[in-house]
Amino acid sequence: MYDQIMEQRKLEIDPWKIVETGFDPRNGRTCMASESLFSIGNGAMGGRANFEEHFSGQTLPGNYLGGIYYPDKTRVGWWKNGYPEYFAKVLNSAFWPGVDICIGGQRLDLAVCPVEAFRRELDMRRGLLSRTFVARVSDRVRVEVCVRRFVSMADPELGALAYELKLLSEEAVEVVATPFVEGDVRNEDANYDEKFWELCGVDRERATLTMRTRKTGFEVSWAQRVAVVAAGNPVAGERFAQAERVSERFVCTLQPGESLRIDKFVGVATSMNHAAEELTQAACAVAEKAAAQGFEQELGAHEAAWEEKWSGCDVAIDGDDAAQQGIRFCIFQLLQTYTGRDSRLNVGPKGFTGEKYGGSTYWDTEAYCLPFYLCTSGEEVARQLLRYRYRQLPQAIENAAKLGFRDGAALYPMVTMTGEECHNEWEITFEEIHRNGAIAYAIYNYCRYTGTRDYLLEGGLEVLIGIARFWAQRATCSEPKDQYVILGVTGPNEYENNVNNNWYTNFLAGWCLQYALLAAGYVAKHHPEHYRRIVEVTHLNAGQDEFARWRRVADGLFLPEWSTPAGPIFLQQEGYMDKEQRLAKDIPAEQRPINQNWSWDRILRSCFIKQADVLQGLYFFQEMFDLETIARNFDFYEPRTVHESSLSPCVHSILASLTGRTEKAYELYLRTARLDLDDYNHEVHEGLHITSMAGSWLSVIEGFGGVRVGADGRLHVRPRLPRQWRALTFEIHYRGAILRFEIGRDEVCVASTNGVAVEVVIGQVECLVNDRTVHVKIEA
Ligand code: BGC
Repeated sequence: MYDQIMEQRKLEIDPWKIVETGFDPRNGRTCMASESLFSIGNGAMGGRANFEEHFSGQTLPGNYLGGIYYPDKTRVGWWKNGYPEYFAKVLNSAFWPGVDICIGGQRLDLAVCPVEAFRRELDMRRGLLSRTFVARVSDRVRVEVCVRRFVSMADPELGALAYELKLLSEEAVEVVATPFVEGDVRNEDANYDEKFWELCGVDRERATLTMRTRKTGFEVSWAQRVAVVAAGNPVAGERFAQAERVSERFVCTLQPGESLRIDKFVGVATSMNHAAEELTQAACAVAEKAAAQGFEQELGAHEAAWEEKWSGCDVAIDGDDAAQQGIRFCIFQLLQTYTGRDSRLNVGPKGFTGEKYGGSTYWDTEAYCLPFYLCTSGEEVARQLLRYRYRQLPQAIENAAKLGFRDGAALYPMVTMTGEECHNEWEITFEEIHRNGAIAYAIYNYCRYTGTRDYLLEGGLEVLIGIARFWAQRATCSEPKDQYVILGVTGPNEYENNVNNNWYTNFLAGWCLQYALLAAGYVAKHHPEHYRRIVEVTHLNAGQDEFARWRRVADGLFLPEWSTPAGPIFLQQEGYMDKEQRLAKDIPAEQRPINQNWSWDRILRSCFIKQADVLQGLYFFQEMFDLETIARNFDFYEPRTVHESSLSPCVHSILASLTGRTEKAYELYLRTARLDLDDYNHEVHEGLHITSMAGSWLSVIEGFGGVRVGADGRLHVRPRLPRQWRALTFEIHYRGAILRFEIGRDEVCVASTNGVAVEVVIGQVECLVNDRTVHVKIEA
């Protein structure tokens, strides 16, 4: 299968690189898919791998700045009370990498000029995007081009590139190179093709462009500095400032075989980090410092920062090169999307690779990404994600109040930039109140993994109180059932809306209430002063015994079940079994995915489940269930799940591993690990599935590696390697140690590479792991 896909996409399998050879501008979707795949970023900004020079073929220009968005009017004709005011769009911002090239009066445009020897490479170890090609500009003129570009991991405000061009023709030719920054950009997803930016100013002398976002008023300055050398001699440029563009024009004549090199540095300063009046100065300072250092030195600093990022988080798969490349691609993308430098930023489902999902924060962060960052980047980076939600607690309380909840109940948004709810679909998105539970679960997950509970004092308990209050009010007492019920929700399965008693939501709600009680009890007992402060801020138990209500609801929540011949299962939602029971394998191939082929009505009526739902709950709380129960539910739901969210197969893969269904686990893993590289769903041109990449990583580490903090609070490792793999080696950060595991078919070796000693249970063997490698035999 890979060979066929590789043949179409011309991607090579390489453990550390994504390599594309050959280029055909007639295949616009593939061109745009490559722009997504080769995206680069540094946590603060990033963008698609659009060509530097002019390209008249199909392209999706995309340069995005973390946290900078536009509140677009929600486009529904049936607006009702409680609907969000706006849908947040991540903004395509000024195109900074531009370098226009004219050779002998002919513009270099790969959609027009025949191209040979095209090679694009993303070096994941170094965070470097490069491209080489030979283009025929006219009958007599050919040029060989090599471009290297990065968005600096060492300096979050710097983008840089080196553009080298060699003349292959037999006669001298005039070359005009015009590096530029273009502010006249739009979003593809604009409702009316309107512009979201307005010009604040361009400064020819200082080569700066400053733009302001409409409505939100973010200001951004870009400053460009360029050094050009032709045949070894510096070339002086002339600066221009026109409308929303700054550029610098360099003219030279090249003899056959001579080269031109353009080093371009762009400083990008935003009003999120600087006072508006200091923006241009800040952008200039970044670009000038980089220009003074030079491209190679800035690249060196960037590579050193990447080396540090990779240390302690690589995954090596022996025996499966395609899987190897797939998992490194996931790690690379996640590391360049979020660095934890700024607690106002988060992980958008498409990161810096496309517009879809608005670059906003979803439950994906807590349910999938948090454990990835905890293990790969350490506690502090992961904690920033928790702080993000703590900062937004006041808005979550406001969101809940708008819907009629009271007394500090908090409902976190399903989609957000700043804490305000900003989705544009009520039934599918808003009703997914289960996201509130994932936010509480993330706090628990963090405390469990780090073995500390101090985050509860910093903000965790306040968040838990708000969430518990919400569930306690949202659950209502059903007289006929004499139990608490949660009505009118959408579970993670978005293929059915407004359901009653979704098992996952109800279970999670009950758990949140119990956990909030536990957390409050812990803080009250061990940190009474903090507790007093928190009680005062939150008015906890003021006037009524809130805890008693929480306990009552938690104990009395209705959890639907169903008996099958194999034994009882947890039921997707009340009434689920009234649906015609069919299996996903019986849907004709040409009707998949059903969301592109069936009417919405037909999808809603069907029993098909979009993504892990009951199984998401069993994954989160696996320690609370025995393996037979998990296996029985897996066997019921997996055949009914169409996995039309990229967040789905990874969770099923982990549970398949856990229950000894290793072949199935591997089959599901293949659907997630190379989802974007192989473009399974034909949508990579829109951007990458960044948050689901965390899920792919989880299916390797938690699934095949069998790594999990157990109910006893200790790290357990119970590997189940797929037979295709000879060995799995990975590193994780755990309680101050960096643990390196080498899992073979019959042995696990582990050492703490930084010497910090920690306890690990491998299979049944308890080990104290320090810098000396511990070997434990396991069953093949
Ligand atoms: C999934 C959601 C997810 C969203 C963003 C949707 O397709 O169903 O669970 O939060 O994508 O990734």
